[in-house]
Amino acid sequence: MKFSFAEPDFGTRGALAVGVAEGRKLGPAAKRLDQRSGGAIARALAGSKFTGKLGELLDLPGPSGLPQSRVVLYGLGKPADLVEGKAEDLGGGLLALLAATPDKTAAVVVEAGAGLAAPRAAAHMAYGARLRAYRFDKYRTKLKPEDRSKLERVVVMVEGAAAAQRAFAPFDKVADAVCFARDLVAEPPNVIYPESMAQRIKPLAKLGLAIDVLGPRELRKLGMGALLGVAQGSTHEPRVVVMRWNGGARGKAPIAFVGKGVTFDSGGLSLKTSKGMEDMKWDMAGSAAVVGTLAALAGRKAKANAVGVIGLVENMPSGTAQRPGDIVTSASGQTIEVLNTDAEGRLVLADVLWYAVDRFKPAAMVDLATLTGAIITALGIENAGMFVNDDALADDLTRAGKASGETVWRMPLGEAYDKLINSDIADMKNIGDGNAGSIVGAQFLKRFVGDTPWAHLDIAGVAWSKKDAPTVPKGATGWGIRLLDRLVRERYEG
Ligand code: BES
Ligand code: MN
Ligand code: ZN
Repeated sequence: MKFSFAEPDFGTRGALAVGVAEGRKLGPAAKRLDQRSGGAIARALAGSKFTGKLGELLDLPGPSGLPQSRVVLYGLGKPADLVEGKAEDLGGGLLALLAATPDKTAAVVVEAGAGLAAPRAAAHMAYGARLRAYRFDKYRTKLKPEDRSKLERVVVMVEGAAAAQRAFAPFDKVADAVCFARDLVAEPPNVIYPESMAQRIKPLAKLGLAIDVLGPRELRKLGMGALLGVAQGSTHEPRVVVMRWNGGARGKAPIAFVGKGVTFDSGGLSLKTSKGMEDMKWDMAGSAAVVGTLAALAGRKAKANAVGVIGLVENMPSGTAQRPGDIVTSASGQTIEVLNTDAEGRLVLADVLWYAVDRFKPAAMVDLATLTGAIITALGIENAGMFVNDDALADDLTRAGKASGETVWRMPLGEAYDKLINSDIADMKNIGDGNAGSIVGAQFLKRFVGDTPWAHLDIAGVAWSKKDAPTVPKGATGWGIRLLDRLVRERYEG
């Protein structure tokens, strides 16, 4: 779908969307259409339940006296309602309606609101619409024509179209990155496995990213016994992908992003149930978010230095699989008693977190992982769990979360929890006593980050969605990219 910006023009043919404020107050564009149609808009409004609350929509097909195929009224709410995130949601909701009509083209008129100048509102609405327009239909060979979206072009009409276009340009790059990550997550595990995922990432070098792919030989040399232990049950070899974006001052310590990339989690010999592994293709969503974040930063040429490190493995049971009771030596030198092969994400992260710290000495580090089912029990699908050893980083992430709509909720760390993973035979074990499962997982990771300001985001609840949201169609969400892009913008570029 193509998005563009133009100065307002009421002579277009396809769909035309205009804003109406709360209390059915027609905006200037809506007024103009109402006059041209001899009052048809006001009459339709009077006969509807539409009041103009933010995000409310009213579809008026075939309006009399107008050249348009339909007029869509969208609610603007009260003057102060339209903040950035709300404008994105509004754009997303509007796109969903427009995409379900037979129209090929749509124009959306955006006028100045109280909080947000018109060009900025237009840019955010277009951003939300782009994110909502994402679809993953490549395996649906029998999709009926009537189920396919007809919409090809959306023109956002705003006074100051050039300014809107400029404001939209970086969002467009972030949206590209989100869609790229969603594709990776949505692909089935027979298509995306460590090697194929690394292959798909490589072309991102065209954005200016430096990309290195490490295979089993290099990983052995680096002593990544924890990651290799998880990988050893699979016929697919592991990979670690390292991505670098140097948009900041030369030599300035980067921010590091680290991702769990288990391309399929069967549980290994601690095998999951059939139901329990149905969804486990998305156990690499953390790594996809890291890839997407680096792509977003490079795409919009962020003035910051960043590195992304992802550990890609498939967790399978087999004659070569690691056993409960195995003891592995991590790259940090610390030994781990693997009592449950299904607690594999922390084993992978142990080695890549250590690698990121050791090799890049980052100023701060954020990891993303679909680490525990327990975080879904604790927080549901509304927030990712955030575990952090640095209050300033916690505050920055919380703020960026609220601003981006990808919200996090801080969870505790502490010595009493750390004790739960002490082992009688090795430096630690990979599970606790069954309680506080998400915290125990985070405590385990903490043993591999040294003094680096670090945050762990447990995204098991937010990586995949079963229902549509304004800017996120159901399925792979691409969660984390908008949050981390925002974090970089506010913490490192300002
Ligand atoms: N990938 C899973 C976490 C998960 C489970 C995400 C369910 C989404 C839904 C992870 O590798 C895992 O299996 N964790 C175990 C940890 C346990 C063995 C300590 C879990 O959550 O049950
Ligand atoms: Mn697991
Ligand atoms: Zn897992």
